[in-house]
Amino acid sequence: MNPVAVSFGKPRGNKLTACWSARAEPRLCYVTPGDRPAIMNFDREKRMTNKPAPTEVAIHELIAGRWSPRAYSSEPVSREHLRSVLEAARWAPSAYNAQPWRFLVFDRSVDEVSFKQAFATLVPFNQGWNSRAPVLIAVTTHTLTNKGEVNRCAAYDAGSAAMALVLQAHALGLAAHQMSGFDPNAFRTTFALPNDVDVIAIISLGHYGEVDKLDPVLREREKSVRQRLPLADVAYGGGWKKAL
Ligand SMILES: Cc1cc2nc3c(=O)[nH]c(=O)nc-3n(C[C@H](O)[C@H](O)[C@H](O)COP(=O)(O)O)c2cc1C
Repeated sequence: MNPVAVSFGKPRGNKLTACWSARAEPRLCYVTPGDRPAIMNFDREKRMTNKPAPTEVAIHELIAGRWSPRAYSSEPVSREHLRSVLEAARWAPSAYNAQPWRFLVFDRSVDEVSFKQAFATLVPFNQGWNSRAPVLIAVTTHTLTNKGEVNRCAAYDAGSAAMALVLQAHALGLAAHQMSGFDPNAFRTTFALPNDVDVIAIISLGHYGEVDKLDPVLREREKSVRQRLPLADVAYGGGWKKAL
């Protein structure tokens, strides 16, 4: 839902909870101190649909706004939206344009049996907050090139496709959350993956749900400010650990 109000000026703090009001109208709120306003969206159902990064430098709102939510509603994802996120992944770049990624889609509303099989491979923590998620997408990749050699960029390329997928989901107003917390061996066996295919991650996809339905710990985590290492710690200039 589109925000209908925005306030400017310096925010008082960086706690998202400060923005968590019972107002009926959706609104924009600051989440970070500073001159550049960071915004956060709530809709009438108190669903948190946006959790912008408090960035050091301005970046595109699609990238800043994508986050990893845990509160899903059980509303199914339309075929159109599902195809859209997969199409975004298809157009990711890859070494030699090899496109090693393969996605296994488990849509609860289409095939509940296979959905439950995929769901069963998630670790208990991930099963907990995904209990309402309508779609799981396994990110797998061919590990060998056409010549049968190890493709050392396979995981890199699959990750890049996964990022395109979750960004497209965010652009569509959908919630998407990547997970490594699952049993890859159980997944491999259950779905008879070929030997040269690795399963790297499972992405849950759905519509935002009420944060208040999460358990108290996850509810607080959902509302906490997103964190990253400082830019200077992750980007060097001209040599290892040299300041940019
Ligand atoms: C490869 C990968 C694996 C992840 N595995 C899990 C997971 O098993 N369970 C979980 O709750 N979150 C998982 N996450 C989500 C991260 O915790 C999250 O991306 C990180 O805290 C940054 O938060 P943000 O995505 O909201 O910016 C994973 C993310 C990635 C990219």
